[in-house]
Amino acid sequence: MGINFELLKISKKYGNIYGSELIAQQLYVLIKREKLINVIELGTGLGVTSVWIGTALKENEKGLLNTFDNFEHSGELQRLGIQQELVIYNNISKLKLNDVIKMNKMNINLDDEKFQENFSEMDNIDLIFSDFSHGISDIQNIFRTFLPYLGDKMHIFIDSVPSNLEAKYYLNQLIEDFNNSKIASFIYKQTDKEMIWQSIQNILCSKFTIHHIEEKDTTHQGATTWIIIEKI
Ligand SMILES: C[S@@+](CC[C@H](N)C(=O)[O-])C[C@H]1O[C@@H](n2cnc3c(N)ncnc32)[C@H](O)[C@@H]1O
Repeated sequence: MGINFELLKISKKYGNIYGSELIAQQLYVLIKREKLINVIELGTGLGVTSVWIGTALKENEKGLLNTFDNFEHSGELQRLGIQQELVIYNNISKLKLNDVIKMNKMNINLDDEKFQENFSEMDNIDLIFSDFSHGISDIQNIFRTFLPYLGDKMHIFIDSVPSNLEAKYYLNQLIEDFNNSKIASFIYKQTDKEMIWQSIQNILCSKFTIHHIEEKDTTHQGATTWIIIEKI
């Protein structure tokens, strides 16, 4: 596939607003190289990461991105002269990504079993990009919700964790605990016993790797934590 100028144009125009241009390209390359199929994005924003992910899936001729946003930033963006929803839907259709991106306009509430139903039909999830909130409880919710969906390998990217020292150290310790087969108590905080059992099995059978990607370029605000979970 040649250079996609339309994608670059969108990226240049909107990428700096959430500092997502480089992480978007990193996700694109990963999806292309590992042929990832099921992708979840928590926090669509202006859809810059979404269109890069969608383009990778389209070029792979397989896969679907489910992206979620409640558009709570749309007021702020409007003050910058940007119509958030319009920008997202226009860019998706300009790049002909309607078949590979499902935009879900809703509140992300990983604690809520109704919200979790969005994933219940999926077998495995290959990649989660979380870009909506990055506190300790969000980290716990991500693992509790998505660990049951581990196939052979899962990538979890959580944006901004490296800039939040408390969250960063918590996550480092959690990964060490999982690698030592210690099951954190938050894993048990759900009613579906099958999901709890699946998470425990997956923790015991997997190796967890964590890397904090911290951009050195001060003109970019990006810092993202990358966790890889692999069955052993
Ligand atoms: C940093 S932006 C995402 C940037 C995006 N990945 C990009 O590349 O343009 C965060 C988004 O998360 C959304 N958001 C924050 N909290 C949310 C929640 N509880 N439910 C749904 N969306 C939420 C905001 O509306 C905002 O659009």
